Amino acid sequence: MTENLSLKAAEAQYQLLLKEISDADSAYFQNDAPILTDAIYDDKKRKLEALEATFPDIKVDHSPSNKVGAAPAEGFSKVNHSVAMLSLGNAFDEADVSDFYGRIKRFLGVNDPIQLTAEPKIDGLSASIRYENGVLVRAATRGDGLVGEDITENIKTIKSIPHRLVGEFPALVEIRGEVYMAHADFEALNKKQEELDKKIFANPRNAAAGSLRQLDKNITASRPLAFYAYAWGEMSEMPHQTQYDMVLQMKAWGFDINDLMKQCGSVDELIRHYKQIESQRANLGYDIDGVVYKVDNLDLQERLGFVSRAPRWAIAHKFPAEKAITTIENIDIQVGRTGVLTPVAKLKPVTVGGVVVSNATLHNEEEIERKDIRIGDTVIVQRAGDVIPQIVEVVFDKRPALSIAFEPILYCPVCGSPAIREANPRKKNELDAARRCTGGLSCDAQIVERLKHFVSRMAFDIDGLGAKQIESFFEKDMMKTPADIFTLEIRNQQNHRSLGVLPIEKWEGWGQKSADNLFKSINEKREISLERFLFSLGIRHIGQTTAKLLAKTFLSFDKILTIAKLAKNEGLFPSPEFEELIAIDGLGEVAAQSLSDFFSDAYNIEIVLALLEEITILDFADEVDHASPVAGKIVVFTGSLQQMTRDEAKAMAERLGAKVSNSISKKTDLLVAGPGAGSKLKKATDLGVKTIDEEGWFVLIKQ
Ligand code: IVH
Repeated sequence: MTENLSLKAAEAQYQLLLKEISDADSAYFQNDAPILTDAIYDDKKRKLEALEATFPDIKVDHSPSNKVGAAPAEGFSKVNHSVAMLSLGNAFDEADVSDFYGRIKRFLGVNDPIQLTAEPKIDGLSASIRYENGVLVRAATRGDGLVGEDITENIKTIKSIPHRLVGEFPALVEIRGEVYMAHADFEALNKKQEELDKKIFANPRNAAAGSLRQLDKNITASRPLAFYAYAWGEMSEMPHQTQYDMVLQMKAWGFDINDLMKQCGSVDELIRHYKQIESQRANLGYDIDGVVYKVDNLDLQERLGFVSRAPRWAIAHKFPAEKAITTIENIDIQVGRTGVLTPVAKLKPVTVGGVVVSNATLHNEEEIERKDIRIGDTVIVQRAGDVIPQIVEVVFDKRPALSIAFEPILYCPVCGSPAIREANPRKKNELDAARRCTGGLSCDAQIVERLKHFVSRMAFDIDGLGAKQIESFFEKDMMKTPADIFTLEIRNQQNHRSLGVLPIEKWEGWGQKSADNLFKSINEKREISLERFLFSLGIRHIGQTTAKLLAKTFLSFDKILTIAKLAKNEGLFPSPEFEELIAIDGLGEVAAQSLSDFFSDAYNIEIVLALLEEITILDFADEVDHASPVAGKIVVFTGSLQQMTRDEAKAMAERLGAKVSNSISKKTDLLVAGPGAGSKLKKATDLGVKTIDEEGWFVLIKQ
């Protein structure tokens, strides 16, 4: 395509691509907030490289084709990689893989088959971790491949990365691999972030990057990061002759390695393993974006060497982007549990990555306006991992003359109450992005959604009572409030006996067995922990984290109810109870307000009291690990700790069942002493109390 361009047109296109790629790079690398999808980014880079190939004169020195990433951000000190951290070339189809294999054989001048390894390409960010005499001394990001950022302290907080190598090792070892976040951890993190009104991450990769590149390592420590080792940098000595054995060696040293790594002897075998991995992709629990093939024999790797920025001996066989083109047939409005109206695009059904997609969320009216999405538009839809399908962009060339712009919905489509955008409680002068139905529990949609939330997995977790069943019981007037769930069985019998109503077991799709099972699983849930109970009420801004915080602080539901009622804040000055609520570390004004509003509402109280007739809420019980090596022990921390604050150390020890004391006595079981420890260390030594340093503490509690 590029061949037909005039030099001037090529130059103009080239400049535009340069700018787009550079903007995308900063967004991705510096701000951890991508503005282009990977596939579009790759496409732009390919176009840029094609232009450079056809018009070599237009190529600039700072072309992204010369670089592998972005220069380090400010704030971290820089680390020079003694062995460069390079990138990988891409293969997009089987022909590319054959070419790669043929190229290697030609380069080496061999006819025999060449053994390769094939392993998932993890979608995270790479890190290099240096061990001197087996001790972790430095860790760095890739950066631009030559200079990265020093993330030693952050890396040390990742549980699966050993601080000391296990067994025998060369004096100098540099392990390289990928830091990533598993799907379940990513979702839990975003939920927590949302609850705390913190930044929501676009995908697990960005969450991992954002978490790793924290100047405060305590934040990194609180994030569920994981690491797969797959390569190495500088080594004082090579313990093995193949890629495969090297990676197995990393496992022996204490690292996690990916168990889908396989040795393959031909292109066919590579492709077979690629397909195998692709078929498992959706169930792996973490994001991968392709399969990496590497020449197994390390002597051959060395002979093959590198071309500019990528090794000749490896290639990334990318999965096709899970994207498709379709049209928007309509825009529906969904009403959520708290009344939020979410516009949803009804699509002409299309297969995206093997799944038929007919809905895509449009988030809110601002998003629709920003992307200028209209009914009738042709759009690109994308399904990233198992996330809900999204609309990437409108294909404006294909916009029909009669496209219909979306108008904000001013009345709830379910109950007809006004739908408004409230002032954003956290950013005064701004409106909430969400529009909400003001009908509260007079809105059928909100009633049903609250019930669904009430029985959901993290709340009451009632087996056999899912969204479908809730809807059906609601339609048949059998269920309106949570208490109705627990009286379902008895009302079912009574209605049948005294009114001759058809009992559930006779409904279509039901039988005696399934009805009995349902009643049984409902009855099993008549006792519930305080934090689950609070969460299940579906109070705005009271998610799992806040619910647990409240439970931990007040221990019983009675206390929470009393304080929440008294905290109701109507006058000019906040009540002492409101002050008490917001004094809780981690509970903001917005959550406190929401909690007191909820329990000041007469109808909510009525619903909760009816529910309390049916269930028992257990007082808060801490989850202490009584099986840990320090359970029941009396522990003292002293000196300055490097990896955790004193409060964190105390909380950690208590979670592990230890008692933390401030002074040393004969009863003390363990002293954890950081640098600068003074009199306590001396006293402990005098009394023969076991003393370890902070490293020792982590080693101890890891087992
Ligand atoms: S090997 C010299 N193996 O992909 C080759 N890289 O596009 C070193 N990546 O920077 C890389 N999974 O961040 C290799 N199993 C894997 C990988 C992998 C993910 C990333 C890594 C690298 C990038 C190259």
